[in-house]
Amino acid sequence: MKFFVDTADVGEIQELAATGLLDGVTTNPSLIAKSGRDFKQTISEICAIVSGPVSAEVAATDHAGMMKEAEVLRKIADNVAIKVPLTLDGLKACKALTSDGTMVNVTLCFSANQALLAAKAGATFVSPFIGRLDDIGLNGMDLIREIRAIYDNYQDLETDILAASIRTVNHVKEAALIGADVSTIPPSILKALVKHPLTDSGLAQFVADWQKTGQTI
Ligand code: E4P
Repeated sequence: MKFFVDTADVGEIQELAATGLLDGVTTNPSLIAKSGRDFKQTISEICAIVSGPVSAEVAATDHAGMMKEAEVLRKIADNVAIKVPLTLDGLKACKALTSDGTMVNVTLCFSANQALLAAKAGATFVSPFIGRLDDIGLNGMDLIREIRAIYDNYQDLETDILAASIRTVNHVKEAALIGADVSTIPPSILKALVKHPLTDSGLAQFVADWQKTGQTI
C-alpha cells in the first residue's frame, strides 16, 4: 500500500518525507484555506519535496473552467495530479486530462457506481471518503470493499483506490486488509501508526538493561 499525506502544511510534509515513508500528497481547497498560503506556491513547494503524485484540486465546477484551471496547475510540476469532483463535468475533464497523459484524482466518491464511472473515465486515482460516510452512520469501509471487488472483476479498470477521509489508525489497517492501493492520511494519524505501548515499554526495558552491562557499541 502506498502512503500519501493529506495536508497542505509544507513543514509537516518536509518532516514526513524525511522518514522515507511518503509516496505522495493530497490537498483540497479546505486544507489550502487552513494553511492560509498561496495555492500555486504551496503546490510548487510540495512538488519539490515529494517526487510522487501531489493532488491539486480545481475550484471550478464546470468542465471548461476545470480544464482552464487544470492547464495552470499541471504546469507547476510533472508530478501534479489534478483533482476533480465526481460529477459529470469532472468525469469529462478526467477523460480529457488522462488522455493527454496527466494524472487525475477523482474526489468526493461516496458510492461504488461513482467509482466505476471514475475508472471508466480513466482516472489515475479515485478517492472514496471513508470518514465522511462513517459520520452519517454508514460504513465507509464497505465502500472500499465494494470498489475493490468491482475493479478486480475487470482487468481493463486500472484506477487506483485511494482511501481518503481517514480518521483513525484502524481505517488505515482496514483499508490495507481490503486492498486499497493507497491511503491518504492526516499527519497526526500517520505518526500514530508507529505507536504501541508494548514497543515503548519494551524499549525502555532494553535501554535500562543495556545500561547495566556498562558496555558501548
Ligand atoms: C482527500 O483527498 C481529502 O482531502 C480528504 O481525505 C478529506 O478528508 P476529510 O473528510 O477529513 O476532510
